[in-house]
Amino acid sequence: MINHGRIACEKLRSKLMSAEEAAKLITSGSTIGMSGFTGSGYPKAVPMALAARIEAEHKAGNPFRVRIWTGASTGPELDGALARADGIEFRLPFNSDPTARDRINRGEMEYFDMHLSQVAPMAWQGFLGPLDTAVIEVTGIRPDGALIPSSSVGNNKTWLERAQRVILEVNSWQNEALEGMHDIYYGTALPPNRIPIPLIRPDDRIGEPYFRADPDKIVAIVETFAPDRNLPFTPPDKAAYDIAGHLIEFLRHEVAKGRLPESLLPIQSGVGNIPNAVLAGLIDSPFENMTAYTEVIQDGMLDLLAAGKLRMASATAFSLSAEATQALNADMARFRHKMILRPQEISNHPELIRRLGCIAMNGLIEADIYGNGNSTHIMGSRIQNGIGGSGDFARNAYVSIFVTPSTAKGGKISSIVPQVSHVDQINQDVQVIVTEQGLADLRGLSPKQRAKVIIENCAHPTYRPALNDYFRRAKEHSYGQQSPSLLNEALLWHQRFVETGSMLG
Ligand code: COA
Repeated sequence: MINHGRIACEKLRSKLMSAEEAAKLITSGSTIGMSGFTGSGYPKAVPMALAARIEAEHKAGNPFRVRIWTGASTGPELDGALARADGIEFRLPFNSDPTARDRINRGEMEYFDMHLSQVAPMAWQGFLGPLDTAVIEVTGIRPDGALIPSSSVGNNKTWLERAQRVILEVNSWQNEALEGMHDIYYGTALPPNRIPIPLIRPDDRIGEPYFRADPDKIVAIVETFAPDRNLPFTPPDKAAYDIAGHLIEFLRHEVAKGRLPESLLPIQSGVGNIPNAVLAGLIDSPFENMTAYTEVIQDGMLDLLAAGKLRMASATAFSLSAEATQALNADMARFRHKMILRPQEISNHPELIRRLGCIAMNGLIEADIYGNGNSTHIMGSRIQNGIGGSGDFARNAYVSIFVTPSTAKGGKISSIVPQVSHVDQINQDVQVIVTEQGLADLRGLSPKQRAKVIIENCAHPTYRPALNDYFRRAKEHSYGQQSPSLLNEALLWHQRFVETGSMLG
């Protein structure tokens, strides 16, 4: 039920209106910076009202499309509704909504997939163009007009500062105990005025718990009571647990060798069933007092916090299943002092990731025998989601680990290929690859040494002979011998899949 007490600033109460009235303030062709990072903290009522308005305009024969910037992916009420209405002309920086994905892959929507740490700086640099309207979900408004952030921070600080006008959604479904959990840093600047960010431990607080907002820019406030909705999670399967087992064994080995402390280093973990299985595996591991400096807090991290294995987690958003969202909401008082939500330009900042020495663990679509990784494009041309924060973390981590099952589509695709069909992660940024078959530690290895370890340890046995055969012939016939390759054959496996539905032929 809507709690009208969430707007404690008298002056701003006069801006209250319905979502439909607020959506009327948005014009066709405008650029809108929305809150939202995975299925959390995104506006729910205004985007739906805007989608309905766009559909009505289209029925009347009037063109109406907008440009949408966010933190990352959002929920069905935002990307889903606007994409269904064919209302998005341009989208950045990340999407995982299936309807929007289809439109992008059909060429009906432009999509700028970018490193998440770079969105705010690029907006400030002016490369992205002007921002007309910010639509931001908040938990409440304080008497002095300061905004209590919601379940994600993302780029909200930047949108509130850069936009010409601001529409707020005050969502009283969000737990009031979120107040105080956020750390909004206002010290960023453009070169040559940048100064070091004063964060040296994951639990340092360097900012303020609230967003500042110019009350004169706020043109509408809409009250809502609407749950965050994440994409449904696939529970970890056997391959995910096998990958988790190899990875935890590797971490134990690194501790035994003295290359990692016993409490490890701050963990970064991508979303998905494999990272969740890794986090679940850490519960039974010998590591204590761990910390996380990551992008999203997912189910596995809550479990680690509850078990006392994880001391604290810093992120920019929650990314929880419906059950974990309920569990957190019911028990917020227990968790709130162990979690910090920050702007994504801080949670994903290369300077901080390098300084803290994060252990980065992210998913891949495919890797090649030399260790280049494809995180985004199926068969080199169809976008799946986007690079997200994986590049921010991989390049700057203390150790950069990538995980993938060795095959996809029931074995018809090998995730280890002669050459990736699209490169997101260059081999220098990929230090460890783990599949259910095993783990390849690539640190300090040349390309040819990497190929041997990747094929032997990570490829599925069905594809191993063909990979060995390719590698042997590449060494015989390649133009050069640093990274031997057969140019007219390197992508044949992909072409075969496109033509026959299987890489096996
Ligand atoms: N070739 C073709 N398709 C493949 C494939 C391959 N080698 N590997 C996976 N796929 C397909 C799957 O079949 C599945 O397709 P479907 O949706 O039609 O069933 C889809 O890709 C997703 O695969 P899934 O196994 O469910 O992967 P996931 O949920 O673990 O996600 C990534 C894997 C790479 C897509 C995901 O980690 C990602 O988007 N990464 C980039 C962003 C990122 O790393 N963010 C983390 C920073 S916090």
